[in-house]
Amino acid sequence: MFIDVLLGLQWGDEGKGKIVDYLADKYDLICRFQGGPNAGHTIVIDGKKHVLHTIPSGVFRKNVINVIGNGVVIDPIVMARELRNLEDNNINISKILVARKAHLILPTHRYLDMGSEASKGKEKIGSTLRGIGPTYMDKTGRNGLRVGDIETPDFRKRYESLRSKHISLGKIYPDIDFDLKAEEQKWFESLEYLKKLDFIDCSYYVNDALKEGKKILAEGAQGSMLDIDYGTYPFVTSSNTLTAGVCVGLGVAPQTIGKVFGITKSYCTRVGSGPFPTELDNELGEELRQIGAEFGATTGRPRRTGWIDLPQLKYTIMLNGVSDLCITKMDCLNTFKNIEVATEYKINGTSTKSLPYNLSDDGLEPIYTSLKGWDQDINDIRDYNQMPKEVKDYIKFLESYLEVKVTMLSTGPEREALIIKGDLS
Ligand code: GDP
Ligand code: IMO
Ligand code: MG
Repeated sequence: MFIDVLLGLQWGDEGKGKIVDYLADKYDLICRFQGGPNAGHTIVIDGKKHVLHTIPSGVFRKNVINVIGNGVVIDPIVMARELRNLEDNNINISKILVARKAHLILPTHRYLDMGSEASKGKEKIGSTLRGIGPTYMDKTGRNGLRVGDIETPDFRKRYESLRSKHISLGKIYPDIDFDLKAEEQKWFESLEYLKKLDFIDCSYYVNDALKEGKKILAEGAQGSMLDIDYGTYPFVTSSNTLTAGVCVGLGVAPQTIGKVFGITKSYCTRVGSGPFPTELDNELGEELRQIGAEFGATTGRPRRTGWIDLPQLKYTIMLNGVSDLCITKMDCLNTFKNIEVATEYKINGTSTKSLPYNLSDDGLEPIYTSLKGWDQDINDIRDYNQMPKEVKDYIKFLESYLEVKVTMLSTGPEREALIIKGDLS
């Protein structure tokens, strides 16, 4: 058996949550392997919208086990709030398991995140301020606290020692308005709530499940262009968001990886700062923002919008070894007479299909191919054969350029608004 992977190919918010929820029916385990509550994965079931930050998107499927893996960073406050919300909606939380080796986000990690952003002036990353960067820094700096530490007798002492370090560090940043005492109280209360869940040794658990023939899907957070190593550094997040991150994030060997579902919107968005070559910083961009309801699921910030960028997608398909492409938000292009698709970049007069070292180069200009839009409502079509010719031409163009098959098309936020094209098995 293999572990299939589902992840975002752009700058996040590609609609991963919706597709994981759909596919979860076919899996025994859904495992988050990186990131933390900077993620916001939206799922719409029977007209009700749910947003998950830490909990895997398989939680709405009855028999699925949801694993929060080693590579994830957990804020007990956010997680307890999510668990309570789920319980209020009569969702069973007993099948959510947490890796003992996952790191904890302390209130002072958020305080440091805010301080670090405030100190950057105009060069802000646009972080979600959920404490992600400082927590991963403590992990690699070998200072962090992990879920398994909660059960040890000197946990409080170690917490206080790390907090003191953070307070000293915070002095290098501008003053931040932060009620540490109140946040700390919530944090410890939330830890008690977290203890309702089973803590596991993630690597043994997932490898044993594989041996037993269980079907496993790893759920990515963020997007490949936000990867710490291969994204638009420094405007990235602090984890490896790529397929490679699954191995260290869950404790599994590379040869256990099976299919890789890459998710992209039919256009492109980015929230936060950093380069975005096909950005439409104009009326058209605003139109896309309104049609696509492009406002962050975690922070509510307006997302930047632009056309789909094929050199960018080809790069992330390569990095991830994508076997199946899923295109979401097809319905959001219903009203466009023409759809622009970036097919190469011109950099200081020279054409290239490769991403340069610096994507924000002043001399960089995307070159577009214009495709005919379908100019009709496709939201209720459920059979690919019934799709207008223009949709099929658009898909064929993408498949031919990207050299990977499209197997899913999403035409609305609801669970059912999905077309399976070809063979998923
Ligand atoms: P994620 O972080 O990748 O899970 O994506 P988000 O949940 O942050 O953002 C995707 C948004 O698009 C959510 O509001 C979804 O409900 C919505 N969505 C997903 N697929 C579609 C689709 O095919 N059409 C439309 N109109 N909305 C979609
Ligand atoms: P999902 O899983 C979109 C962006 C932030 C910021 C940068 C660094 O919902 O797709 P961080 O909080 O990690 O320090 O922020 O990364 N970012 C996301 N953008 N979707 C996400 O997650 C994101 N998680 C982080 O906006 O630019
Ligand atoms: Mg999101």
